[in-house]
Amino acid sequence: MDAPVIGFSKLSKTEKVNWLVDTYFDGNTVVHNTITRYWNQDQKLQDLHDGFSENTITNYYFPFGLAPNFLIDDKLVTIPMAIEESSVVAAASKAAKFWLDRGGFKTTIKSTIKSGQVHIMYSGLHGEMDAFYAFAKADLLQSIESINASMKKRGGGLLDIKLVNKTDVLSGYYQLHATFETKDAMGANFINTTLEQLANTLREKAKEFQGFSLGKPEVIMSILSNYVPECVVNVSVSCKIDELGTINGVSGADFARKFTRAVDIATVEPYRAVTHNKGIMNGIDAVVIATGNDFRAIEAGVHAYAARDGQYRSLTRARVENDVFTFEADFPLALGTVGGLTSLHPLSKLALQILENPSAQDLMRVTAVCGLAQNFAALHSLVTTGIQAGHMKMHLVNMLEQIGANDDEKLLLKKAFQDKTPSFSGLRESLADLRRK
Ligand code: MEV
Repeated sequence: MDAPVIGFSKLSKTEKVNWLVDTYFDGNTVVHNTITRYWNQDQKLQDLHDGFSENTITNYYFPFGLAPNFLIDDKLVTIPMAIEESSVVAAASKAAKFWLDRGGFKTTIKSTIKSGQVHIMYSGLHGEMDAFYAFAKADLLQSIESINASMKKRGGGLLDIKLVNKTDVLSGYYQLHATFETKDAMGANFINTTLEQLANTLREKAKEFQGFSLGKPEVIMSILSNYVPECVVNVSVSCKIDELGTINGVSGADFARKFTRAVDIATVEPYRAVTHNKGIMNGIDAVVIATGNDFRAIEAGVHAYAARDGQYRSLTRARVENDVFTFEADFPLALGTVGGLTSLHPLSKLALQILENPSAQDLMRVTAVCGLAQNFAALHSLVTTGIQAGHMKMHLVNMLEQIGANDDEKLLLKKAFQDKTPSFSGLRESLADLRRK
């Protein structure tokens, strides 16, 4: 591409595709076809998807799978998961089955408070900001009453505001820290609208206030926080050591000992903690995406929580006490089951229906369970057979696709490799052998 493209967003979808194919692929019709074969023939559905984003040229599919047999708080749940990585859904299902006979998963919602901040700069004396806040507080609260009304009817709304002096970390920095309960909505729009109104009122009241000696406070920005250490669900599994049985040839006692050491390592060693938590997010993100929630917000919030004491650590904890093995985690999950994509995307709606139309709190529980299950499954393999044995077997299908095996060859090669760890070179050799025969 030699020159910037002007007015790209105004082009029709077909024009955008043609521009792309001409500019980057020399008009290649195969590339054109790759793009258009993913268009949905149902124009209404296609229009819906095009409307979710901007400059769309096609659709990007993710597999949507099911992990059944989760016993969560004594109720059987089938978890919908949207994820592209092989083994993840199988691992979740395996963990579900393992804990099904051992009491299942237990969850507790610890709190559901979210927050947002109006970030302010003022270089005058601290006492002046305190006096201004006392002067403005009632009007600040009054000014958001109409925005708050419908959320209040649902039992939520703005909970509190306070002025926070942050001048110890940044000269002249204050914030209006607001806390919210948003019930079944993720609440981003509600929180941001409320914060922007608070900021407007703050500016107006600052004009009236006579006590500033150095200009007026300046609002820098108003935005919700995706850090939600007060919107947390606890999830756990627990059973007697002898109920663990023999796991991949390892005794229950040895398994529990190695498992808890593996978690301890991820608690103290960031190199391991990141991969450990990545495995947890395999499960969490899959549910978050399937249900139309914002996985970037969840990712950012969860990782910040994992580093809340200044070091990045494991999100899960494991222990053996009085011959009882317990594995648990607290996850900060600000999720919604109404509003946003949850009610727009037909597959998010379906995912929520599969979960029997959960409240946001129930979705927090299910998502947390999937995260803990995923970590259990990963450590279950890591401390016994190693990850590759199961992983590569699941990956075999993708590998066979990549080396260009046809359906008959796939069947034969799957059989030939059922007890082996497949490698690309081994598979290619076997495929060549097959073809020679
Ligand atoms: C792979 O997606 C996730 C794992 O690496 C997680 C872990 O190491 O705990 C298997």
